[in-house]
Amino acid sequence: MSPTIRLAPSILAADFTRLGEQIAEVEAAGADYIHIDVMDGRFVPNITMGPFIVEAVRRVTALPLDVHLMIVEPEKHIQAFADAGASFLSVHVEATQHLHRVVQQIRQAGVRPSVVLNPHTPAVAIKEILPFVDMVLAMTVNPGFGGQSFIPETLPKLREIRDLIQATGRAIDLEVDGGIDERTAPLVIAHGANVLVAGTSVFGAPEGSTAALHALRAAALA
Ligand code: DX5
Ligand code: ZN
Repeated sequence: MSPTIRLAPSILAADFTRLGEQIAEVEAAGADYIHIDVMDGRFVPNITMGPFIVEAVRRVTALPLDVHLMIVEPEKHIQAFADAGASFLSVHVEATQHLHRVVQQIRQAGVRPSVVLNPHTPAVAIKEILPFVDMVLAMTVNPGFGGQSFIPETLPKLREIRDLIQATGRAIDLEVDGGIDERTAPLVIAHGANVLVAGTSVFGAPEGSTAALHALRAAALA
């Protein structure tokens, strides 16, 4: 059976002067998760938000919070994000020497662990950690900024990751992040992805986030 398709709007592209309203709108429009991009200016060039914002978002939505950590030494901050209300915590395999330990730390904090691969990192890098995680996030752009173009060369890797997941016999989600819109959604799904992060194509849509999310869902189910 194919896994359920889930949509995770990324608030990186939201209007932060009305963040609560913007989240309420995508929740009403059928979003499955709220994706929160944490950047530290070291692992990636940009600086965005931390546990303080996660805690604020936790208070305005019932949806699971999918927190993407683009930070060095993620082990130092797991408890703070768990306390802030993260539902998923995604850590980059490139950001820590001791991935297994961090994943255990996340699980022990009562949060669902996920591991992330940059576009150049081979699928096999997550093979040994798969038994311990609930999700794999494959970047389809270089992390750091919203609004970048989807890198089509990442598609074969999605299929490789899905095959590795299949071999475990566990129901592990495969999430994609970067440049996801009505055009790229069917491609990533055809290659095995089932959780789609979308920032610009939802919150930046001229027709509004409700119409954009509905259109993305239709494209994903087509
Ligand atoms: C990029 C972030 C993404 C970003 C995606 O580093 O991880 O979650 O918000 O933005 P779009 O959908 O605009 O490519
Ligand atoms: Zn992200």
